[in-house]
Amino acid sequence: MMALSSTKGVVVPVPVLVLAAAAAAIFLYLFVSSPSSSLPTPCSCPTIPPPDTTTPTTPSTRATAKSTGSSTSQRISASKDDIEWVRNQIEANGLHMAENVLRKGINPRTREQQLQDLLQFKGVSHYEGEEAENHTAFPCPGELLVEQHHSYYGEPWAGGRDSFDFLAESTRLTPDSRVLEIGCGTLRVGLHFIRYLNPEHYHCLEKDELSLMAAFRYELPSQGLLHKRPLIIRGQDMEFAKFGNEGMYDLIYSNAVFLHIPDKLVWVGLERLVKRLKPIKGRIFVSHNIKFCSRLGGEACTKKLHGLGLAYVGKHTHDSLLFNHYDIWYEFKRSKI
Ligand SMILES: C[S@@+](CC[C@H](N)C(=O)[O-])C[C@H]1O[C@@H](n2cnc3c(N)ncnc32)[C@H](O)[C@@H]1O
Repeated sequence: MMALSSTKGVVVPVPVLVLAAAAAAIFLYLFVSSPSSSLPTPCSCPTIPPPDTTTPTTPSTRATAKSTGSSTSQRISASKDDIEWVRNQIEANGLHMAENVLRKGINPRTREQQLQDLLQFKGVSHYEGEEAENHTAFPCPGELLVEQHHSYYGEPWAGGRDSFDFLAESTRLTPDSRVLEIGCGTLRVGLHFIRYLNPEHYHCLEKDELSLMAAFRYELPSQGLLHKRPLIIRGQDMEFAKFGNEGMYDLIYSNAVFLHIPDKLVWVGLERLVKRLKPIKGRIFVSHNIKFCSRLGGEACTKKLHGLGLAYVGKHTHDSLLFNHYDIWYEFKRSKI
């Protein structure tokens, strides 16, 4: 084999020399042509952090979370920054909120007209085949499809979110909490609890068939909340046995119900529920007024509550930030642990 000898007598074979030269040439080529290989210039630019890929937020909502110093995932009600953001979006899009004029949609109709169309054309799908071939799992009453039930108990429907915000934050609710509502109606408030809580943690006793139909047949399916399996039971006698004995409630509330039912029945309900309320943290919230109690007179009211093992905590008012809505709530807790 041919070899070159150096002056010091080290023998390097020719193929090795050729290989080394080729490697050096390739290295030199890569070094010169690669942009990243250029010599670093001194730079005092701020380093840009990698984008936060954990939550799909827009830059502005990320900034909001930073500026409030709180995690948006923990907050329940709308923050000042949220409200400001809405205001900015309205302004940026040139929307005129103050003008309360009817909109000209493509086909603007009242609920009554929509209902009429639904009846005439057999539902939104305008299904025209034989009824036997109709694969709809359940027929849905037209009045639900046009959302008449959003006005069954007065407006605003959106105020349900306010009530939820207030109650959830007042009781420091977590998804693990257990909640009972008395008279949930068409789920104006309940929907928000169902969405927030773990499956099966929301219970409700409601007497009205049409409202229950609206809840099961329209609201839960349309909001994608069937998987939350709320326990909603038809009844009007403050009978809670069907809810089982498992777990105690962190919150029991009743929105616009106690003022409509006989005082005696309210007391029956409270008596049955005291032991189902968590001893220290548990709260009962009643909206509008507590005439079932105050009608007895201040002292007698307190005494009767105490006899049941309840104590009145106080009155709260809650202003809506978004929906022109105003709530009054009365808070109770267990007096005997
Ligand atoms: C004014 S609505 C309020 C509904 C709901 N809480 C809301 O805020 O939209 C009163 C509700 O209480 C229900 N209700 C009245 N008496 C009841 C009773 N004894 N037991 C259970 N629900 C009752 C009614 O059927 C109705 O759904």
